[in-house]
Amino acid sequence: MNRFDNLFSTIKIRGMELSNRVVMPPMGTLLGNPDGTVSEAVIAYLKRRAEGGPGLIMTEIVGVHPNGLSINTQLSAFDDRFIPGLKRLVDVAHERDIKIAMQIHHAGRESFFMLAEGKAIGPSAIPSLIYGMPPREMTEEDIGEIIQAFGSAARRAREAGFDAVEVHGAHGYLLTQFLSELSNQRTDGYGGSMKNRARFVTEILAEVRKEVGDNFPISLRLSVDECIKGGYTARDIAPILPDFVSAGADMIHASFGTHGSPGGITSAPIEYEPGFNAWLAREVKEAVNVPVIAVGRFTEPALADAVIARKDADLVAFGRQFLADPDFLIKAKEGRSGDICTCIACNQGCIERLMLGEGKIRCAINPETGQETIYPEGPAAKPRTVWVIGAGPGGLTAANEAARLGHDVTLFEEKSETGGLVRIGSKAPFKKAYGEWIEWLTREIEKRGVKILTNTTASDEMIGKTHPEMVILATGGKPIVPDIPGIDLDNVCDALEVLAGNEKPGNNVVVLGGGQTGMEVADFAASKGSSVTIVEMLKRSPVMKLTSHGYMLHRRVRESGCTLLLNTTVKKIEKDSVIIESEGEERTLSPVDQVIIAAGIEPLDNLTKTLEEEHIPYFIIGDAKKPRRIMEATDEGAKAAWDI
Ligand SMILES: Cc1cc2nc3c(=O)[nH]c(=O)nc-3n(C[C@H](O)[C@H](O)[C@H](O)COP(=O)(O)O)c2cc1C
Repeated sequence: MNRFDNLFSTIKIRGMELSNRVVMPPMGTLLGNPDGTVSEAVIAYLKRRAEGGPGLIMTEIVGVHPNGLSINTQLSAFDDRFIPGLKRLVDVAHERDIKIAMQIHHAGRESFFMLAEGKAIGPSAIPSLIYGMPPREMTEEDIGEIIQAFGSAARRAREAGFDAVEVHGAHGYLLTQFLSELSNQRTDGYGGSMKNRARFVTEILAEVRKEVGDNFPISLRLSVDECIKGGYTARDIAPILPDFVSAGADMIHASFGTHGSPGGITSAPIEYEPGFNAWLAREVKEAVNVPVIAVGRFTEPALADAVIARKDADLVAFGRQFLADPDFLIKAKEGRSGDICTCIACNQGCIERLMLGEGKIRCAINPETGQETIYPEGPAAKPRTVWVIGAGPGGLTAANEAARLGHDVTLFEEKSETGGLVRIGSKAPFKKAYGEWIEWLTREIEKRGVKILTNTTASDEMIGKTHPEMVILATGGKPIVPDIPGIDLDNVCDALEVLAGNEKPGNNVVVLGGGQTGMEVADFAASKGSSVTIVEMLKRSPVMKLTSHGYMLHRRVRESGCTLLLNTTVKKIEKDSVIIESEGEERTLSPVDQVIIAAGIEPLDNLTKTLEEEHIPYFIIGDAKKPRRIMEATDEGAKAAWDI
């Protein structure tokens, strides 16, 4: 059995002794109070992560100045009034003998609402890469004020009882804006050479050190590589790392990427291998002699242990893995690594939900995350017999949660396997982990004693005869078959059939529909050597390049030579060609030996009438209600179970 001796070894950082090498890195939650103080929700969220036993927890970004907030509800430390709330975060960690650092942050130009209110500042008046609006160029007076603000916030962290602070110098926020030539074109002592551009960071570190005293550890989070065209690289920044250490940094957190880095690489999608950027930590270790944290798609303790063993890094940060399964370390320690729910890097509940303004932090595969204050501990006051009909992600989650709460659950699935569309979709390139998550969830419900009836259709007669006390309808959807001449021809098939392996991709393929399934089946067919044209009737691709998987999908589809025709409809399918129309003009795609339909799905509902007649209470969840993503299906599944 792997005992993870490296991961579970202690380490000292300027007197702060950590019980292991695992760091929970800063993750913004939006769970704070509207006035920037700590809320019960933040405390509950952090407490749940502390129960998992990392050596060091870092808070999410905490604002040092009112003009540097990313969002108007961001946790803050620009005034002493924030100290009592911050103390409560410290207690959460210290009650469990865990060390906690506060991350201090200024957004600079990367704040939509500061830009919109004309309050954003930056090294130069160069527009934000994301929001397209310019900040005001900082005067030397502004620079002095912000340096002091970092120092004061660090002092408040120490007063609140934190064990350390982390200066946020990464991801395109103000400090990175100074470090990067792309955002800093100053001609004074804070611009020009790398050394000059780094001056702002070194002065902040010196001020923080002055405020917190000699015995208080300071971590510096850096984007060691900006991962953007024209940005700085590890080679550029390496020579100035010793200056950061001399100025006060006791540890370097080797992150990467900036706002606008293609594909949201900072919280990298599934296309990136676990631990893919550990080499950056190694580069930092070669430049300075302080502990270095590696980060980036770490999900498995075994890999983190190996990274420390080979001295690429001294500590390893697991970000999204702490959202998917806060207990993963305990499971690893107890020799139960197989029980870990592994993050699938879908980003639906976490970073993209925050970025796209969809709401507070969640996790698509862990319904407890971000909802700790309403998550029922169980058991339910009255155990009931519950039928869950349909074993896609929503149905599986509903069954898992209902069984966890003590209900007697039977799960019906027409197909021979659980997982629904997610299992089929996991056959697309890079999506294997989605299938593994389905396997994990299926094992969980088996362990909880859910009766799983595959190859079984729950019928009206069965419902009438057995009369379960509660039914959760998770029957999903059925593929939409568009009304197009030729749709019945032999060369036409459904995308799900292709992904499931029941139909082989043809040589010259037309995919009808450029949504996620259409793009993924195109990606799949192209990976098997097909020449693919995707026909989409919308003017803009429905797969957002703003999402990281969306970006990667677009890139792969383009690079593999697929053609994406937008604003185009299919008029007719023929034996070896397809007639399309765009802006009133018809043309023929030929030769075409296969037409794959990916026109979306529509809800499947065939049991509600009986349930109504029998007066059996029921919930409709996931795609059976309205076709959407995993995030919505699991959330509705969990909530139905909680509401039984
Ligand atoms: C929801 C979310 C919020 C984040 N907020 C912060 C933040 O406040 N400060 C920060 O330095 N990094 C932030 N990050 C980046 C993470 O700390 C981490 O570097 C990144 O997710 C990569 O690690 P992972 O692959 O283990 O998730 C955030 C990431 C996520 C997913």
